[in-house]
Amino acid sequence: MNNEVKDLIKQKLDIVDIISEYITLIPAGANYKALSPFRNEKSPSFIVSPELQIYKDFGGDKAGDIFQFIMDIEGVDFREALQILSEKSGIPLTGESSKQSYHENNKKVLMSILEDSARIYHTILSHKTYGDKARMYLYERGLTDELITLFTIGFAPQGYQTLTKKLITKYRPEDIEATGMSIRGKENHIYDRFRGRIMIPIQNILGKVVGFTGRILPEYDDGQMGKYVNSPQTITYDKSKVLFGLAQAKSAIKKQKRVILVEGQMDVIMSHKAGVPEVVAVSGTALTEYHITLLLRYTTQFILAFDNDSAGIAACLRAASLITQKGGVVQVIHISQGKDAADLVRENPELWKQSIDKAEHFIEYYLHHIIATISPEDIPAKNKALKQLLQWIQVINDPIAKNHYIKKLADLLHMPEKDIYSKMEVAESSADISAHIKSSDSPGIKLQKHIIAYLLYKPENHDILILDQSLFTQPILRELFIKIRDYCVKHSSKKLSLSECKHFVSEEEYAILEDLLLPIFYQIEEMHPSEEQTQQTIQENIQLLTTHYQSSVRKALLKKLKEAKQVGDKDTVQDILRKYKSFTNNNT
Ligand code: CTP
Ligand code: MN
Repeated sequence: MNNEVKDLIKQKLDIVDIISEYITLIPAGANYKALSPFRNEKSPSFIVSPELQIYKDFGGDKAGDIFQFIMDIEGVDFREALQILSEKSGIPLTGESSKQSYHENNKKVLMSILEDSARIYHTILSHKTYGDKARMYLYERGLTDELITLFTIGFAPQGYQTLTKKLITKYRPEDIEATGMSIRGKENHIYDRFRGRIMIPIQNILGKVVGFTGRILPEYDDGQMGKYVNSPQTITYDKSKVLFGLAQAKSAIKKQKRVILVEGQMDVIMSHKAGVPEVVAVSGTALTEYHITLLLRYTTQFILAFDNDSAGIAACLRAASLITQKGGVVQVIHISQGKDAADLVRENPELWKQSIDKAEHFIEYYLHHIIATISPEDIPAKNKALKQLLQWIQVINDPIAKNHYIKKLADLLHMPEKDIYSKMEVAESSADISAHIKSSDSPGIKLQKHIIAYLLYKPENHDILILDQSLFTQPILRELFIKIRDYCVKHSSKKLSLSECKHFVSEEEYAILEDLLLPIFYQIEEMHPSEEQTQQTIQENIQLLTTHYQSSVRKALLKKLKEAKQVGDKDTVQDILRKYKSFTNNNT
């Protein structure tokens, strides 16, 4: 069925037209030639044949028809290429079930609302008076009009109806609400989610808007709302899948054969200013396996430019381990404490370029970090660092690279290689623990995670603060609960940011916090629950966890009782019965 459509599309579209949309083709006899869009080359070896309707990159390995070209250049799979070319040719894809096409249609409407929103915000930012303050702020940060246009940056004024009023003339309120651009209020009418913010559209790989991130304009910052507000999870926007800047970066990533990962949207935008466009950011979440797989379509070389604090290093360790397992190679950029790529570019674009040039392979980076920060006498710290490094070396697939790093490590630590090999066998990776907690999605663990996330959200909540810590049966979650609770008791705060937690949890715990609790925390934040709703959910969760805990303790005791009875161990039977009774008395 797809084959029929494929043939129809091929008849309708000319490969010369399609490829010309991406590169300049020069006539060469019966064919056309061009500089390869997939490699850096000085003389053209990329040939297109109108007669055969194919292309071939003689200096590389790419060749094929229009479908293959779209797959190669856009980094998409066949289905997506079919979709793109079906739109270009006007030949519809047949054979989709009506339910699916309803879903597709609805998605089209939502995408159109998002596209319009980006345009509206962009127009406001360009407006002489309405956009003036926001534009000045962006110029002060070093942005230019070209960058503002490249990323379709806009401005959401402070009012509650600016965007909603415009959209409502064209779309149904429930569709507008479904994009996350508006929120339904108490009186059942909808109002703007983003107010007083610089609006940065988040686009999918094809450059279509799927969501937004909004940065507060400093003069409107009353400290109540976050510096950044992101679109909630919607049909179009899944932050575990989207990479900010990929649409603008993808061809550069291929050409330069590398991708640079930074923390924030501003870092991506400013890197373009420095002439380094092969850069993307995850938006307010940790790097996921999906992100990595997506980037591996374009390159295997990853350069990480995360914060240089302990949390940043933990995030690097985690990302590096995931990337290596999937076959990528990781380098790390060293940026001085408290700065990010955007700061460097603003100061001097050369500083950012120099930092990139000085990127080191992750292991070297980490070794240098250890040598610089740990005193040689501090044996426990050295052991801990060694353990982490071993975890990392363990996941390197390439045996030659692996041996290289083990040698290096042995050398630097003045240890025999065989000691390192034997230590490696016992090292347990925190990534494993995290995966284990994630996969053991038992109701008890789920509840424990939710309650801790609520503690971050409402650090003054008395019900959580007085909870019995033994309810947290998962050791790392219990440790996190205790540390966060103790911190909350000492410092009163309205909301706890993840970065605050960096100060009092270990790197391992932080990685788990980021991996497992941050997504729940964001979910809660996005739901914007009222005080009563929050309180009610917290109480329900506590009630459920308590019941769950009691029944599992009883079950465990009964199991032990049965075993003791079977072997005829009377003392133990008595002992368990006593425990069972006292547990039941104390917990009813
Ligand atoms: N972030 C977020 N929500 C927040 C804070 C941060 O989603 N409440 C994300 C944003 O993508 C942000 C990134 O985390 O860009 C890094 O945060 P931070 O370093 O605090 O912001 P900067 O990128 O430095 O932002 P700016 O330069 O605009 O202050
Ligand atoms: Mn910054």
